[in-house]
Amino acid sequence: MITEKYNVEEPLLIEVETRVRAVTGINFDSSNWFSLKVAIKERMEATQIEDPNIYLKILAPNSNEMEKLTSLLVVHETYFFRDKRQFDALTEVVLPELIEKKKIGQTKPRIKIMSCGCSFGAEPYSIAISLMESNLMDQADFEIIAFDLNKNAIERAESGEFSSHMFREPDTEFLKKYFTLKENRFLLHNEIKEKVQFYNANLFDLEHAPVSLAGADVVFLRNVLIYFNQADTEKLMQKVDKNLSPEGVLFLGSSESLLFLESPFHLKQIGKALLWVRGSKSIKPTEPRTVSIKPNIKKTEFSLPKDIPLPRKPKPKPPSKMRTQESDDLEEHYENGLGYLKIKIFDKAENEFKEQLKQTPRHIKSLIRLATLYADSDLDQQAIETCQEIIKIDNLVDEIYFVLGLVYFKRGDYQQAIEHFKKGRYCDEKNFVVLYYLALSYRAVDQQKEANHLFHQTESVIDQMEQDQLRQERFGYTADYIYSLCADMAA
Ligand SMILES: C[S@@+](CC[C@H](N)C(=O)[O-])C[C@H]1O[C@@H](n2cnc3c(N)ncnc32)[C@H](O)[C@@H]1O
Repeated sequence: MITEKYNVEEPLLIEVETRVRAVTGINFDSSNWFSLKVAIKERMEATQIEDPNIYLKILAPNSNEMEKLTSLLVVHETYFFRDKRQFDALTEVVLPELIEKKKIGQTKPRIKIMSCGCSFGAEPYSIAISLMESNLMDQADFEIIAFDLNKNAIERAESGEFSSHMFREPDTEFLKKYFTLKENRFLLHNEIKEKVQFYNANLFDLEHAPVSLAGADVVFLRNVLIYFNQADTEKLMQKVDKNLSPEGVLFLGSSESLLFLESPFHLKQIGKALLWVRGSKSIKPTEPRTVSIKPNIKKTEFSLPKDIPLPRKPKPKPPSKMRTQESDDLEEHYENGLGYLKIKIFDKAENEFKEQLKQTPRHIKSLIRLATLYADSDLDQQAIETCQEIIKIDNLVDEIYFVLGLVYFKRGDYQQAIEHFKKGRYCDEKNFVVLYYLALSYRAVDQQKEANHLFHQTESVIDQMEQDQLRQERFGYTADYIYSLCADMAA
């Protein structure tokens, strides 16, 4: 429990923010002041330092403390075959094409694959397993290089030991083949471990790192851009562009976007995945819009509370979402849960929502957050059960149908997804995210006419929105972003 003894006042927050940003590139704004504040408190408590000046003394750029604090600020969320379509596209299309282009005579080409911000290693190991499962191993010399800012994450990655939480894709055939289960831990076999080289390195300081992007043919930079501001993301993209081989391909998180940034990359459908290749931007909103979207929106993080503003430039005003013990606010646990959700401490968020439900069992907002949290974590059954509880209380909540739709969509059960998205549309016909997903579901079952109609309908709903509504999130997506996706999808 965080006590008032370790109080984080504005000057300390501002100084720490400046230092952390200088070292890591992590961008702080109104949306993550809360996480910074919680993290500093946690570290002051752990080090038993009450005096901000003393704390600042131990927070030097390459210090142990900087490492510990930043590891509280980044989320290492990862799992094997996260967005399976991308791994399929890699081995079915991207690599065969690269091999063909790079082949000279009989000599095998060298292919360099980078996993930047690799967290605990599930991503580069999934690449290695995909290669093993393909018929490509004999056709090229593959080098898989992975790195992360966080030392501890790299150590865990190198250990090759994983909990069951790291396996959420329905297809787990690869588990039997490449892992040994020992005391509830999955131990990765050496034949895969040795295919990946891990390094502790900072994307913004690769000049001084033992690892280089130079000559990379494939760059995985998934679910990392969230931490950076627009200017840094643009700089990073220039760096990737400069280093990537001429035919190189960039993999971002499934809904991360560079569309509105100055970036040399554009989105291209490759296999069943949307990947980034060089060239002029191909997707733009049809009308110029004055607001730019944030560079990264995670697909399943629709649980972001709507009442928390979009990340923008840091304001030297540290708001506290944490309520005091004495607070008589009936939604105290719910509010705390939102705070934890925002900084992705999911287990604490879950506890807070459950506490709220103990006090007020029909607290729909907490149930919705729980359902979305479960869906985000691929705990489909729990998500479905929680939605069913909500339906018993109120069956006109569009969020539930979106969550249910998404659960079925992710499973590839598009008919069920369509049924639920349709109900969501019935609850709110202007919910552009539901309309978009309904369109995607129709597209997935080859009902292209219906899909196109819905893509256009989504655009038309967004066209009617006021400018200031375009960057408000629904289920974690801004209208601007959905608009740009529709422009591409509608044939
Ligand atoms: C959400 S995880 C993504 C893991 C993996 N790419 C995936 O999509 O499953 C983000 C990772 O990026 C790392 N990261 C954040 N800023 C970084 C930086 N400047 N340099 C290198 N890694 C960074 C974090 O430490 C964290 O492990």
